[in-house]
Amino acid sequence: MATIYSRTLFLGASALRGVARQQVRQRSSAPLSYRNTRSLNLASTAKQQLAVKEAPLSANSIVSSTPETESLNLKFGDGSASQMPYVWLRENCQCSECYNSMAQGRTFLMESLDLNISPSNVKNDEEEVLVEWNDGHVSKYTKPWLYDRAFTPAARAQHRNRYALRREPWGADHQLKEFDYYTMIKDDKVLLDWLLTMERKGSAMIKNTPDRDIAGPEIIEHIAYVKQSHYGPHSPVINRPNTNNVAFSNAKLGMHNDLPQYEQMPGIIFIQCVKQHRGTGGESVISDGLFAAESLRRNHPDAFKILTTTDAYFWDKGHANYSWEMDEFYKISKMPILTLNSDNEVIRVAVNNAIRDSYLDLPSHKVKSFYVAMKLLNDILYDNSVRFKMDAGDMMTLDNVRCLHGREGYEAFSERHVESSYLDWDEARCRRRRLQEKLGVFI
Ligand code: OGA
Ligand code: ZN
Ligand code: ZN
Repeated sequence: MATIYSRTLFLGASALRGVARQQVRQRSSAPLSYRNTRSLNLASTAKQQLAVKEAPLSANSIVSSTPETESLNLKFGDGSASQMPYVWLRENCQCSECYNSMAQGRTFLMESLDLNISPSNVKNDEEEVLVEWNDGHVSKYTKPWLYDRAFTPAARAQHRNRYALRREPWGADHQLKEFDYYTMIKDDKVLLDWLLTMERKGSAMIKNTPDRDIAGPEIIEHIAYVKQSHYGPHSPVINRPNTNNVAFSNAKLGMHNDLPQYEQMPGIIFIQCVKQHRGTGGESVISDGLFAAESLRRNHPDAFKILTTTDAYFWDKGHANYSWEMDEFYKISKMPILTLNSDNEVIRVAVNNAIRDSYLDLPSHKVKSFYVAMKLLNDILYDNSVRFKMDAGDMMTLDNVRCLHGREGYEAFSERHVESSYLDWDEARCRRRRLQEKLGVFI
């Protein structure tokens, strides 16, 4: 019930935004020549306003629906128009035969789809558009539903932004936005702010984290649930005797992403400082891999090409140091340093010197240029990095498929204690969308 209610609210809100947009557009688009005929137009404007009052036209109402060869041409109340292909309309029929509205899933099968289906009749009534297909099936679509799914650049961009927010690259002058641990747990508005910040900036600092090694998993459980690895639900990053990972030593760690030996790398890393090393050592350095990758794309296109098209292996073989770790593990992943999506956007950065394998699936003559490209990226990352030293109670959170982190080495005998834990992006974005619905905050 609650879901339906908030959806209705949502549709109402988007309709209002549409009207506001239309009003702005109408106000600002009056041609100059109108100024000379002002008095004449005042009377007709008054008439128009009266008409608008009598029959308010919402942005997502449908003014006209014109059947064409392959699609239905819809004109909406906000002046936008979209071709809605018949093949799409038929597949997305909302009737109970084709769609399970409880499960919110399509029951209509691909095998049943006639690619050349066309309507025998289209009716545009007050609430819905009704399509009778030439095979006799009847489909109904509500107007806001069609408006939201229009094939216009604006409607497509709106949904793209619901899926994932636009990332904002940053350089050496970046300041981590700060959040308070308990306020994030108590106040959903603050939690939403953190989720938005993580999507946009890929980085934030949580202050006043309690002095418990499970503070990371606790806040992650409040958001969704922990992404485990063979190191367990959280890892003490201390100088361990007989360590099973270079990170669990006192060595300097170069700029890296965590766990690229997993095909599904963790989405967000929580690095909690339980105790910091006194004196020099243990400082953090972070950098935005998105910023660095875009700089590489612009200034060194050949190197960019190599890093987006050459797979590296990452591997991790070992035994448990503690009871909560997997007894024996042996992971191998294969992926490029920079992964692109179908829009050529960099969606994953996988850099980790400790875990990148010495095996290379490359002919020998391509090896040196691969190293040249990796070193260039590393230089750009460091040239645009931010340095600081965490205090006990600080918990740095980073988009682990975008931002990189490193740490300075420290003396072997140190009380330094860091804890790391992870949350996946699917769960973080899921929580962000639900909080946006609950709080009525849409972007
Ligand atoms: C790690 C790591 C950071 C630190 O464990 O992967 O990057 O400050 N630790 O120790
Ligand atoms: Zn149907
Ligand atoms: Zn790390």
